[in-house]
Amino acid sequence: MRKPFIAGNWKLHNTIAEARALAGSLCTSVGNKEDVEIVIAPVFTALAAVSAVCADSNIKVAAQNCHCIDSGAFTGEVSAPLLADVGCKYVIIGHSERRQLFRESNDFINAKVFAALKAGLSVIVCVGETLEQREDGSLFDVISAQVNSALNEISTAQMEQVVIAYEPVWAIGTGKTASSDEAEEVHAFIRGLLGGRYCAAVAAATRIIYGGSVKPDNIGELMAQENIDGALVGGASLKADDFSAIVNYTKTLKVVS
Ligand code: PGA
Repeated sequence: MRKPFIAGNWKLHNTIAEARALAGSLCTSVGNKEDVEIVIAPVFTALAAVSAVCADSNIKVAAQNCHCIDSGAFTGEVSAPLLADVGCKYVIIGHSERRQLFRESNDFINAKVFAALKAGLSVIVCVGETLEQREDGSLFDVISAQVNSALNEISTAQMEQVVIAYEPVWAIGTGKTASSDEAEEVHAFIRGLLGGRYCAAVAAATRIIYGGSVKPDNIGELMAQENIDGALVGGASLKADDFSAIVNYTKTLKVVS
């Protein structure tokens, strides 16, 4: 059985005071929930404050990125052990904004996944195709290259700490959600890849979440799909009411196994 997983990616938003207030509201509304794994990802500068606010709740804190090397002459970078030190339990790796705007390669993403797991963090690994790739028929090649290379040399045991987020680039921040059938097709494909790389047990246990314009009014249809185990939420995670509604939806989830 896979526990539903809802993560909020706050991206480059919120001062420390704003982040503390949003995290506080979420602790009040959904902080006691045990049937959903809830993760929020503030900017680096708010991680300490948000970790403190969430310390007595079931909400876990994630960073939005990390470097692949623990320490050294890497001006401007933050490493996985330092994220663990500030209270993070998760880190988002390979978000399409990192891949596109900051030219992160599949190999670099793999190195980051490796570093994060070594530091004891769990990871949310993002994969997803552009509209052009979907239209030119390379969707499944792109997804399999991203999944296989992100997980290169990651062991079966380490897969317990990995969540995969399928986020079609054309659906991020655009208001266009993949239809639940389109999303389910790719989620099922990714689960098949995991079965091939690892084994049926890993494929069955790994959470594969959807991201791209998830809102309270479309979470239901997405979560009803057999292979969609949760959501990585951008814009709607900045509003406590919307994010809480998305988290609370999962109450009515059927159990998938
Ligand atoms: P969105 O972002 O929900 O605003 O589309 C999702 C994401 O980028 O993780």
